[in-house]
Amino acid sequence: MANRRLSGFTSFLIPGISSLLLFQTLKSQPLPSLKETFKSNFLIGAAVNVQQFEGKDSAANRVIAQQFNTVTPENIMKAEIIQPGWNVYRFDYADELVAYAQKNNLKINAHTLIWHSQLPAFMQHMQDPDSVRKYFVDHINTVAHRYDGKVFSWDVVNEALNEDGTLRNSIFLQKLGPNYIVEAFRLTQKAAPNTKLYYNDYNIEQPKKRAGAIAIIKSIQSAGVRIDGVGIQGHWNARNVPLQDIEESIKEFSALGIEVMFTELDLGVLKNPWDNNTADVNAKADSKENMNPYAGGLPDSVQNIQSKAYEDLFKLFLKYDKNVSRVTFWGVNDGQSWLNNWPIRGRTNYPLLFDRHFQPKEAFYKVISTKAE
Ligand code: XIL
Repeated sequence: MANRRLSGFTSFLIPGISSLLLFQTLKSQPLPSLKETFKSNFLIGAAVNVQQFEGKDSAANRVIAQQFNTVTPENIMKAEIIQPGWNVYRFDYADELVAYAQKNNLKINAHTLIWHSQLPAFMQHMQDPDSVRKYFVDHINTVAHRYDGKVFSWDVVNEALNEDGTLRNSIFLQKLGPNYIVEAFRLTQKAAPNTKLYYNDYNIEQPKKRAGAIAIIKSIQSAGVRIDGVGIQGHWNARNVPLQDIEESIKEFSALGIEVMFTELDLGVLKNPWDNNTADVNAKADSKENMNPYAGGLPDSVQNIQSKAYEDLFKLFLKYDKNVSRVTFWGVNDGQSWLNNWPIRGRTNYPLLFDRHFQPKEAFYKVISTKAE
């Protein structure tokens, strides 16, 4: 009896001790680098903002140079910024990003050509299908052509699906019909022959939406048009990462002969006001009581849940490293994450691997440790 109690006690204690020791050992050494650690497995990226690629955020710039080998512009290549008026383009930010990436040896995943959100005002309520078609063709030709050879890849179409796997009733579907996705890829392939072409969406690890994504990918392929990969955004809650669905998705998407990527990874710790796990940028909610419980700091218990979730996820990515070509975090540190202001403004979320002072979190070391096993 005593023995059994002792062995139960030790087996409970030893993993705790060893992981504590592991973290202390790792922390006393120079900071490991994500991109170095996973260099034989997949690219490691972060979404970057203007301050960062203009080199005005020295702490972030240090982390980016040390940790990442690919970046995604968080906003500046979206239509509302890059074509704010009809045939009026604003390329200065994207050009600065290209220069920053060249200087720091970073690949760029350009984000995004065709998306119903963050559209310029002039095009949001366009009624005439010919005008929408002209916008569609000109936007792709101009923007994709200009950055061909300068960016590594494009999210050609973003978030074209509803949760049930049907096509979202966007302005593009309404005015151009269901073939607009194939057309977007066809045009981009022509305008940017040296750039990889991806479909990107959230929740496409979920079975119904996944089936919709598979149908899209097959329709592009059977039209003889190139698609190189699919991006699963990965805006999940740390308490509820759908590992099984993710694994199934990696298998099913890679069976189509394309790369699988995790393109906007963040594991938030705050509850959202609705049951489904949307990442629709237009889904906003008012703040209510108890919706911002960690404004004063992240409790260890929650930190542990998050670290374990990141660890499990990276173990899965490593298991499928032949199929997974990139993992990109949606931001550099917790303070800069969009999840502090979405879907409720002014909250304190902790979704990334670096804290508000750019210090690596427990989750960072857990992710690094998946390679040691
Ligand atoms: C978000 C940005 O992070 C925010 O700064 C912006 O206000 C709204 O968009 N899916 C996407 C990204 O494809 O472009 C979104 O980025 C997050 C959800």
